Amino acid sequence: WPAVAPLVAAINRLKKEKNAVILAHNYMTPDIFSLVGDFRGDSLQLAREASATTAGVIVQAGVHFMAETSKILAPDKTVLIPDLRAGCSLAASITGADVRLIKEKYPNYPIVTYVNCTADVKAECHITCTSSNASQVVEHIAKEWNSDTVIMVPDQYLAKNVAAQTDIRIITWPGACEVHELFSADDVSQLRDAYPGVVILAHPECPPDVLETADFAGSTSALANYVKENKPNKVVLLTECSMSDNVAAENPTVNFVRPCNLCPHMKRITLENIYDCLVTGEYEVKIPEDVRVRAKEALDAMMALPK
Ligand code: 13P
Ligand code: SF4
Repeated sequence: WPAVAPLVAAINRLKKEKNAVILAHNYMTPDIFSLVGDFRGDSLQLAREASATTAGVIVQAGVHFMAETSKILAPDKTVLIPDLRAGCSLAASITGADVRLIKEKYPNYPIVTYVNCTADVKAECHITCTSSNASQVVEHIAKEWNSDTVIMVPDQYLAKNVAAQTDIRIITWPGACEVHELFSADDVSQLRDAYPGVVILAHPECPPDVLETADFAGSTSALANYVKENKPNKVVLLTECSMSDNVAAENPTVNFVRPCNLCPHMKRITLENIYDCLVTGEYEVKIPEDVRVRAKEALDAMMALPK
């Protein structure tokens, strides 16, 4: 592979030749995020870009469930993921068969799935949500079904964090993000002691006691926007490590305290394998059409909600 600058130039040239766009999640390393990403954002923003793009090829600089979401929403596009091993502990925690069993047990309750799951799981659920709209989706589906109870899979912490904001009863599933479940309320109090005045921002995949003690919680893009709009003197982002690098690059006056946890799945994506994937066309994401159509209904139900 060429060194970084020529590699970036080669990727940007290949994108033009192949009519490709790179959708880069906020957890990508800064070289990918800033130098080759065409669209950057959280899961919901990237999904919206996938359904809007006019390019023929989408390269997902993110994890496999995100590439599946792009394929579900843009079936006529070629969707590529540079490394098939870029998974997610939440997506691995539940299968479509598990959701069918839940539906047998609770036939009268609507099921919301966090987008961090496979297409098979989406196909079995009534609506999807992301970290930026989870409460809105739960309130909406409870009203639509006239139900006081909603089932929310697979992230137990996101579900508990939403439950803390609503009167709706939420039944959940014991999945967790291996990155965010490592943060604790102890971390928050130690940070406050060590860095007086620090503003603590947390992703809603963190356990509830973290969110209770943090100053603000939101999706990856909501955390980035908070920093941009409030320009705190000192801030800590309780989320994946590359977030602080990317947000710091855009906010040079803000000091970042950096305890963070790496997502090994996100880190599978590199400039090198993005280059390889544009050259070889590997790995193409494919979804059986019957699954895709049902999964799209769940995604469309979410995307139709007001922004
Ligand atoms: P966002 O939708 O907030 O970007 O979250 C995606 C993710 O995988 C967080 O761990
Ligand atoms: Fe999955 Fe957590 Fe990695 Fe996000 S950070 S992709 S939820 S394992």
